[in-house]
Amino acid sequence: MKKNEIKNRMVKLRDQIALLRHKYHTENDPNVTDDVYESLTRELIKLEKENPEFIDSNSAINRVAGEPLPFFTKVKHNSRMLSLNDAFSDEEVYDWQKRITKLLHSDKKINYFCELKFDGLAVTLRYEDGAFIQGATRGDGFIGEDVTENLKMVDNVPLVLNKEIKGSLIVRGEVVMSKLVFEKLNNKNKKLGKTIFANTRNAAAGSLRQLDPRIARDRHLDFFAYDMSEFPKDIVIHTHSDKHVLLQELGFNVDKHEKKAQNLEEVKEFIKEISKMRDNFTYGTDGVVVHVDSLEMEEILGVVGKAPRYAIAYKYPAERATTLVTDITLNIGRTGVLTPLAHFVPTNVAGSTVSKATLHNMDQIERLDIRIGDTVVIQKAGDVIPEVVEVLVNMRESKEKKFKMPNECPVCGANVQQKDIFYYCMNKNCTGRDRRGMQHFVQALEIYEIGPKILDRLKEEGLISDAPDLFTLEESDLAGLERFGAKSATNIITSIQSHKKVEFWRFLYALGILHMGEQTARDVANHFQLFEKLQKASLGDIESIENIGPVVSESIYNFLHDKQNIILIEKFFKNGVTIEKTKILKDGKFDNKIFVLTGTLEKMSREIAKKKIIENGGKVGSAVSTKTDYLLAGENAGSKYKDAQKLEVKIITEDEFLKML
Ligand code: IVH
Repeated sequence: MKKNEIKNRMVKLRDQIALLRHKYHTENDPNVTDDVYESLTRELIKLEKENPEFIDSNSAINRVAGEPLPFFTKVKHNSRMLSLNDAFSDEEVYDWQKRITKLLHSDKKINYFCELKFDGLAVTLRYEDGAFIQGATRGDGFIGEDVTENLKMVDNVPLVLNKEIKGSLIVRGEVVMSKLVFEKLNNKNKKLGKTIFANTRNAAAGSLRQLDPRIARDRHLDFFAYDMSEFPKDIVIHTHSDKHVLLQELGFNVDKHEKKAQNLEEVKEFIKEISKMRDNFTYGTDGVVVHVDSLEMEEILGVVGKAPRYAIAYKYPAERATTLVTDITLNIGRTGVLTPLAHFVPTNVAGSTVSKATLHNMDQIERLDIRIGDTVVIQKAGDVIPEVVEVLVNMRESKEKKFKMPNECPVCGANVQQKDIFYYCMNKNCTGRDRRGMQHFVQALEIYEIGPKILDRLKEEGLISDAPDLFTLEESDLAGLERFGAKSATNIITSIQSHKKVEFWRFLYALGILHMGEQTARDVANHFQLFEKLQKASLGDIESIENIGPVVSESIYNFLHDKQNIILIEKFFKNGVTIEKTKILKDGKFDNKIFVLTGTLEKMSREIAKKKIIENGGKVGSAVSTKTDYLLAGENAGSKYKDAQKLEVKIITEDEFLKML
């Protein structure tokens, strides 16, 4: 970017950040999520570092957030309400450990205490002689808002403590709204045309910062205690974990997911364990807070600025981030469909670097109005492929370019035709289509030894021109190729040969017929049993199969009656491919049960899990619907999890699945 472009971008970023902050702090109604806010802020901080001449001292990122609203009484906190420094990876937690070890100047072992980082809003509660006197929000850390009356409406804020305690006790904790209450509230508000809250935290904040305590009562908020900032001198405790024990004894709600850790390995374990469970928690959590357990060490480490050195917040990877669209190109599929692909400035989302995302079709581009040069919000959750969810139109600089679908195929130059929302290259021999078709073929046959690069190489060398040619290859053909080891040549040939006998459904699927997914291929193969029968079938015969509609039937029928395809299929047989009956297992455990998979499985790959389901008579669907019987959810489950909850589909863990098997 040129200097003046950088300057303009920094101005835009500042304006957008200021707008989001205003919406967030004053209106409790952000139109973008935290991840987006943080992503923009990160970019601005980076640009400020690289271009200090453009720093604006009034920049929103240098100001303290959360001025109290004028209509609540202000409360001065007895001690500053702190924030936590964040760690986004295990390395950053290790770096923190190194820093504090150095500062402590002692050989004493550091013990840690891990607890959940709740996604709500921080409050402070003051008790005098065991009675609840006053409660306040964080505000700017020094002065907050008096929300005592509203806090009295939160059931698990004790009004009188379980034990008699003389003097002042100040408890810090988080007010949260459960996911269920949040969903109900939003559904109700939607019907009434009222505010829809972006997340549980905003809903909790919006509910607590209401002048009418009856509204707060109806919002069913909850309180989790996590710290005491002041307690009577006669209470003798030495660790942060002691505080949690005491808080519980006094009648506070302390979450059970907490752990004393002897070292960072155990901290890491806790973080990992929680990452698997957090989607199932009734409350939103965005990380784990790691404390130095000893209060003596806490004292020595102290506070720098607004964050303590004795604790750190491990944040789970953001699922959303912002980035720039640098280009939109077209990918050509095996059926000739042209799929637009957005290219980004590489950015980290949900723990991995994302530089591309499919835009699916022109409809999507037009609906979101995505242009080359736009700043966009991208999302990636668990195993879900990255997608563009929103364009930040305020960030435009009027040089963004609209994408236009070309009239000619970018690979072969043939005519492009539109069918519904899709565009197709009409040339059956298009090399782009062909390349994808071959890749699909080897994947479908599970010839894992041959990747796209090897396929390209074999074609360039003139060793193959289509998929049937693969079966004529010999070791000597490959061994002679430059930079091609004898061992890999042997592996490839052995693998190809071992895939010559292929199950009927798999062969059908591998042909790459438009609209023919794995499940359709199985349904068709089960119905006809023999490939010759399918070849002779009428359109009506195919249509009569359960679950197969007219569009799919027509596509299958046309494919099998196309002259070129007939020649291709014959060539497979001539080169030694034989079709075997689809193996059907008797009395399958999962007969007719439909499974959908989400998240990462630990004990087996997804491919194996799918195989097991199918071998046992079940089916694998791609999206959760009312027909789904089970959602098999691994680590970092994606949006399918929520869909399953909504539709009350049974959700099973990997272990439960193994038991079923
Ligand atoms: S400790 C001494 N513990 O995270 C540090 N904070 O950026 C004070 N939070 O404003 C916070 N769960 O609202 C602590 N178990 C937990 C927490 C927690 C959520 C929030 C809190 C604070 C922010 C820190």
